[in-house]
Amino acid sequence: MSETGHGGSTASETNAVRTPQEKGLREVVAAQTRLSDIDGENGRLWYAGYPIEDLAANTTYEEVVHLLHRLRLPTRAELDSFVEFMIEQREADKFISDVMPTLAQQTSPMSMLRTSVSAASAYDPDGWDSSPEANERKALRLVARTPTFLAQYHRLRTGQEMVDPHAKLAHAANFLYMLTGVEPSQEDADVLDTTFTLYADHTMNASTFTARIIASTLADMHSAITGAIAALKGPLHGGANEEAMKMLEEIGSPDRAEAHVKDRLARKEKIMGFGHAVYRTMDPRARILKRLSKETGERHGDLRWYEISEEVERAALHEKGLNPNVDFYAASVYHVLGIPTDLMTPIFAVARMAGWTAHVREQYADNRIIRPSSEYIGPRDQVWVPIEERG
Ligand SMILES: CC(C)(COP(=O)(O)OP(=O)(O)OC[C@H]1O[C@@H](n2cnc3c(N)ncnc32)[C@H](O)[C@@H]1OP(=O)(O)O)[C@@H](O)C(=O)NCCC(=O)NCCS
Repeated sequence: MSETGHGGSTASETNAVRTPQEKGLREVVAAQTRLSDIDGENGRLWYAGYPIEDLAANTTYEEVVHLLHRLRLPTRAELDSFVEFMIEQREADKFISDVMPTLAQQTSPMSMLRTSVSAASAYDPDGWDSSPEANERKALRLVARTPTFLAQYHRLRTGQEMVDPHAKLAHAANFLYMLTGVEPSQEDADVLDTTFTLYADHTMNASTFTARIIASTLADMHSAITGAIAALKGPLHGGANEEAMKMLEEIGSPDRAEAHVKDRLARKEKIMGFGHAVYRTMDPRARILKRLSKETGERHGDLRWYEISEEVERAALHEKGLNPNVDFYAASVYHVLGIPTDLMTPIFAVARMAGWTAHVREQYADNRIIRPSSEYIGPRDQVWVPIEERG
């Protein structure tokens, strides 16, 4: 065999991707984790062993951040000091606030977030310290600070004054406050908090895998999270909640849902917010968000989006056996809370910051560089010819 390995073996003899199921690394275990687990057949999700339904009903997002980073729910004293640290970290660095007017004018919210997180690395008080303690602080700073970036961006692009963080408000409530300039009702704050919990982690999805690959090279926390945001940007991953909202707006009323779904499927277009790489039944987060969509719609006197969503769900199941994923009912919840459609994916990112950073720390704690194989399917035994003789 030649040094390049092209001396005789054929692609089909190599030990690599062979079946369509394996394309996209389905079923491949890329890491061991204590953070979250999914039972795709039965539609179950756990964070550190706790069912998502219990966490959504009973814990705050801050407790979930603690759970993902320290693998146990906090005591009251632990939570108090954890929350105090996070509140102290909410202020954006001056450099980022200075550059935000340009970002608000020139870039999409996801590009802004990616750029701001990357820039924040230069201003992190822990600098290039990569000790476990420094990495926990960096992680919590990112969790605490990214909502500020997003709120500042939105205020500036809509010609409004930036709003300073409110030290008396919890994480999700403070975000709504900085976004709108008005303290949210407890009910709205609680709904947003629950959506943050639902988005906080989800095993080896594309963005988390990206973060772990970058971490496995021992690149720094901010680099890994910048890459994760880039991966989340695509419509097949995080972009789906925005696309789902655009679809609901295009449908416009419940009686048009079925025809719309049929048309889309006939055109071989995806129904955004439906289907999942792992769940073979309804995503358990979608079940919770469906209830929140109804309750939030009722409370705000605007059930239209819930009612259209319900009809789309019925049609998608009937026409192609498709179930909604987390992004589908999140769209109507966020819309009724007054969140602009193009902030829905960045909000997913802001909430997922908890899981991403925890996965990066888990990767650092037991690391081996991630380096999968590929299956070569191009021609072999090519013969080099001088450029003048190439046809
Ligand atoms: C999430 C997603 C990328 C998973 O892709 P996947 O693992 O390749 O999906 P599956 O293997 O289960 O697909 C099985 C079949 O259902 C179809 N399908 C899956 N999701 C669909 C959707 N949302 N709309 C229409 N058809 C869909 C596939 O095209 C495939 O059809 P085929 O057998 O006729 O080729 C895919 O469902 C999708 O693109 N969904 C829309 C985007 C979205 O909501 N993303 C957020 C995920 S949390």
